[in-house]
Amino acid sequence: MVLKASHVYKTKQNVRILEDISLTVSAAEIVAITGPSGAGKSTLLQILGTLEPPDSRENTSILLEDHSLLGLSDSALAQLRNRSIGFIFQHHGLLSEFNALENVMLPGLIAKKPQKEIKEQAHYLLERLGLLHRLTHKPQALSGGEQQRVAVARALINNPKLVLADEPSGNLDSPNAYQLHELFYELVESLNCAFVVVTHNEELASKAHRILKLRDGRMVD
Ligand SMILES: Nc1ncnc2c1ncn2[C@@H]1O[C@H](COP(=O)(O)OP(=O)(O)OP(=O)(O)O)[C@@H](O)[C@H]1O
Ligand SMILES: [Mg+2]
Repeated sequence: MVLKASHVYKTKQNVRILEDISLTVSAAEIVAITGPSGAGKSTLLQILGTLEPPDSRENTSILLEDHSLLGLSDSALAQLRNRSIGFIFQHHGLLSEFNALENVMLPGLIAKKPQKEIKEQAHYLLERLGLLHRLTHKPQALSGGEQQRVAVARALINNPKLVLADEPSGNLDSPNAYQLHELFYELVESLNCAFVVVTHNEELASKAHRILKLRDGRMVD
């Protein structure tokens, strides 16, 4: 089991946002989270990604490969996110002053991996994503689909155990969304990572290995 979250609760300003959520994700498995706007999907993803803590309760636990993600210092969490968790959001979030290759390499440089190794991995990923002819393009010179594929390569550069995506194809037209979803399946399998994706896209959700439906912060069948 790569990720095991048990009894996650979240309250903000006395609003109950998540109520007793538990989920597990294995290597090479894609779990889709669906549900109406305001159901708590992004909040759950933020918590799984250690970007915010859950409510502190006795029975809550979140384990990444058997290591607890709760109660760590900010610097330990930052290092863990950099090395073990890849994030993909609806907006690509690429840095405009860097080209595609540099954007992809950046998390590897932050992780202080050898530059040669990072460059090889970046080339490998960008080739898999069909972007070898766009290495020196800055984000503003790329199409929406290309920008999002660069963001995927960036999320995967450090071989994360867990990849979290929040509406990754939300800004794409359907051919581009379809192509991105196909790539997710190929990459998750060959990189053997666990993948949790929040999506309104029926096609993507239906292809997931499991679907978790949220409504008003609760899991529904
Ligand atoms: N700081 C806050 N204080 C109070 N309530 C909040 C706060 N932040 C978020 N919420 C509420 O938490 C609920 C869940 O928000 P969240 O962003 O997780 O929903 P979502 O399922 O991702 O929705 P969407 O599909 O629109 O992205 C919403 O009802 C939101 O209004
Ligand atoms: Mg959301």
